[in-house]
Amino acid sequence: MSLLELRGVSKHFGAIQALTEMSLSLEPGQVVGLMGDNGAGKSTLVKVIAGNFPPSHGEILIDGKQVHFSKPVDARAQGIEVVYQDLALCNNLTAAANVFLGREPRVGFGPIRILDHAAMYRRAGELFKELKSETRPRDLVRQMSGGQRQAVAIARTRLSEARLVIMDEPTAAISVRQVAEVLDLIKRLSEHGIAVILISHRMPDVFAVAHRVVVMRRGRKVADKNTEATSPEEVTGLITGAIATA
Ligand SMILES: Nc1ncnc2c1ncn2[C@@H]1O[C@H](COP(=O)(O)OP(=O)(O)O)[C@@H](O)[C@H]1O
Ligand SMILES: [Mg+2]
Repeated sequence: MSLLELRGVSKHFGAIQALTEMSLSLEPGQVVGLMGDNGAGKSTLVKVIAGNFPPSHGEILIDGKQVHFSKPVDARAQGIEVVYQDLALCNNLTAAANVFLGREPRVGFGPIRILDHAAMYRRAGELFKELKSETRPRDLVRQMSGGQRQAVAIARTRLSEARLVIMDEPTAAISVRQVAEVLDLIKRLSEHGIAVILISHRMPDVFAVAHRVVVMRRGRKVADKNTEATSPEEVTGLITGAIATA
C-alpha cells in the first residue's frame, strides 16, 4: 500500500487552473524528484499535500485511507513535513534549540517547569549523528554553513517522526560541497524508510538521489518515470514542452 496517493487532484484559484487531474503515489523510502518550469504547479501541489489548502477536486490518501487536510498541522499529524527554501531557522539560537523549537522538553512539575537543555543537546546530537552530519548541538545557527543548516531543518523533521519530507529547492543557494552534504541527508532519510519529494531545478542533484522523476507542465503531470529509465535530456524536453509526454 502506498504511503501517499493523490487521485485526480485539481486546484484552481479563481480562473487560474494551477493543478489539473494530478495523480501520484509514493512508497516508504522512495525519493521522487519533482521538476517543472516556474508556474508548473509544483508549489501548489506541495501546499495541497502539506494541508495549506484543500484541493478543488480529487482525493488524497494516506496508507490507503482518504484524508482531508484543512491546515498544516493536520498533515503534520500524518507525518508530512515540509522543509521550505528559507528553512525557517532562528539564527541567534543553537542547533539544538532550533531542532526543538516549539516542542521543547521540560523538567519539573506544576508551574515550575524549565527547559530540559541536557535532553535537547543529547537528542539533537543523536539526530545529527544519525544523519551523519558534523553539525554540533551547541553551535549557533548564525555561524553554520548552508549544509549544516539543512541538517538542522532535516533533524527537526526526524524529531517529529516524519514519514514524508518535502524539500523545496534545498540546494538552490548553497556551495557545491554543501550540496553533496544535503544529497547525503536525503539518502539517510530514505534509508530510514522516509519518503522524500525533492523539488529542484538541478538535474544532477535529482539524478543523484531520486528513484523516480516526476515532471509537471502547466499544472499537469507529463512524466513519471524511474530515474534509470530517463535522462537529463529527456527531462529537459519534458519541462520545456519540446517532448509532450513520456
Ligand atoms: N495563491 C494563488 N493565487 C492565484 N494563483 C496562484 C496562487 N498560487 C499559485 N498560483 C498560480 O498557479 C500556477 C502554478 O504556480 P506554482 O504552483 O507556484 O508553480 P511552481 O511552484 O511550479 O513555480 C501559476 O500560474 C501561479 O501563478
Ligand atoms: Mg514554486
